[in-house]
Amino acid sequence: MKLKNRIVVVTGAGSGIGRACAIESAKEGAQVIVADINLQGADETVRQIVANKGQAVVFKTDVSNPESVKQLVDFTIRSFTKIDTLINNAAIQVNKTIEDITFEEWNLQMSVNVGGIFLCSKYFLPYLRITKGSIVNMSSVNGFFVEPMCAGYCTTKAAIIGLTKAMAIDHGHEGVRVNCICPGYIDAGLAEGYFQSQPDPAKARVEAGRLHALWRIGKPEEVARVAVFLSGDDASFMTGASVVVDGGFGSGLPPKSL
Ligand SMILES: NC(=O)c1ccc[n+]([C@@H]2O[C@H](COP(=O)([O-])OP(=O)(O)OC[C@H]3O[C@@H](n4cnc5c(N)ncnc54)[C@H](O)[C@@H]3O)[C@@H](O)[C@H]2O)c1
Repeated sequence: MKLKNRIVVVTGAGSGIGRACAIESAKEGAQVIVADINLQGADETVRQIVANKGQAVVFKTDVSNPESVKQLVDFTIRSFTKIDTLINNAAIQVNKTIEDITFEEWNLQMSVNVGGIFLCSKYFLPYLRITKGSIVNMSSVNGFFVEPMCAGYCTTKAAIIGLTKAMAIDHGHEGVRVNCICPGYIDAGLAEGYFQSQPDPAKARVEAGRLHALWRIGKPEEVARVAVFLSGDDASFMTGASVVVDGGFGSGLPPKSL
């Protein structure tokens, strides 16, 4: 078990990739705090973990709200005395151009996707320093390979790559490692939202798969297993990295014969 006796906080763990990160961390022996704004989804994640004899609790959290994040930190330290890994996964995606997106939507997306990482990292850092813990930020291939109709989302995912490197530089000498993961299309909420925003969602899903060399979109657990790797001691000399988990995104154009 790679994360035995470790305390892992996963934001946005009420569905999709975050849920998979929580489940895979628990399978490796971690006690998991499932932090999500959506209590119903978070409860379901805990139910699945406990059914598999793992340990997890829910804490309702809005990562864009400083008071809510401070409460998550207080709860974690009061209940478990420490934190070993923070997986900053929560995000939203507004599928609009900058002309169409409203000022409020732009700010909300920035404050959840980037602000949430800032707040959770800021308030957990004093405790991560004690355990020489690790932060895993969820970016995206959209951090460096943009697509139409999601300018604001791509902006946040590029910002996360920069923020990851900056945090790694500032806190590496204290023993805190900070990495990010850049997934390709994954069969989870945000990709589904993107497919549904297209005129033909089923066609959009197939076409998305073909953007990857493996000719399919990924599964949440295929990202989560990399998050577990980055959390644990096997990645002890990795920090500031952007780990691409994308099935060969951008190299999946069909051969001419097809
Ligand atoms: N699905 C993909 O194809 C894909 C690809 C690349 C990167 N990602 C990244 O992976 C992460 C998860 O994406 P997903 O597809 O699993 O999404 P999802 O919608 O299934 O899950 C996101 C979770 O975040 C929660 N959340 C939203 N706002 C929150 C807030 N303010 N505070 C706390 N929780 C909040 C939601 O309730 C939800 O449970 C995101 O960071 C996303 O950018 C996803």
